Amino acid sequence: MFAARCEDAALLDLWHPVAAIPDVRERGPVSTQLLGQMLVVSGQEGEEISIKEFMAPMVHGQVFNQGREVSLPVREAFGFVWTSLGAPPERLFDIPEFHETDRWSENSGSFRVHTSAGRTVENFLDLAHFPFVHEGYLGEQPYTEVKDYSVTFDDREIWATGCEFYQPIAAVSATDGQVTKYTYRLAHPFCPLLYKTSPVDPKRFDVIGIFVQPMTEVRACAHQFLSLLDETNDDATIKRFQAIIFGQDKPILENQVPKRLPLGSRAETPITADKTSIQYRRWLTELGISYGVIRDNTQRDSEPCSEIF
Ligand SMILES: [Fe+2]
Repeated sequence: MFAARCEDAALLDLWHPVAAIPDVRERGPVSTQLLGQMLVVSGQEGEEISIKEFMAPMVHGQVFNQGREVSLPVREAFGFVWTSLGAPPERLFDIPEFHETDRWSENSGSFRVHTSAGRTVENFLDLAHFPFVHEGYLGEQPYTEVKDYSVTFDDREIWATGCEFYQPIAAVSATDGQVTKYTYRLAHPFCPLLYKTSPVDPKRFDVIGIFVQPMTEVRACAHQFLSLLDETNDDATIKRFQAIIFGQDKPILENQVPKRLPLGSRAETPITADKTSIQYRRWLTELGISYGVIRDNTQRDSEPCSEIF
């Protein structure tokens, strides 16, 4: 079967993350997919990173070797390589905290998941799942209440502020449970960031994000980004903690039906915890996105979604 080709200008023109820089430098080249297109990201230490798109004709899922190669734009930001299949803007969103010198920032793993990018983002924005999916880590029963919070949409960014949640182990460095304060920020349709109370300095925030790469309509790669004030933890411990958390999300995400994100206002029952999701779905609708989403309430859940992988 063919991977559906993305026709959405809003997605083609975006910068998308495609690999962590160390994965390319030390273990590359990296073969991957973006919006159904095959890419290879290469560039060993000392070389410039380059990205080639293989415009290969496919018949019955077989890629033929005589396909054309096209060079794509390359951008390095926040520890990742980014590219675009269209005409990307000069500017990528900024994360001011990334430039603060007393922080420890890095990628903490790239995790592939069999669902749409939109579903992956929405799961990241959802506080209500913490005590159920991440019990003992990011939440604990009976502390399941999501307090009311504010959502704004300004200057092409969604901000959810005033979120609070009780967490038994909010981060690797936490020794006790705490009420964690959160702010969510979406400065890119597939790059949600979470600012949360730092266990080492309650006046400042750790930044955790996922930069989600839409590989096909129903496959995504969540590249995890961390910018922490705490430098006492080693790389392997932090990566292990993040892998445990994502390992808890993955089966939940992969069992959600339909895999493409429904955008219709009546598609799924809204609850308080979904205020950010509702704004997120509105934003995707306004952007005119149809790839990886279901725009029309009348589309059936069981509609087959063709892809290759
Ligand atoms: Fe989760």
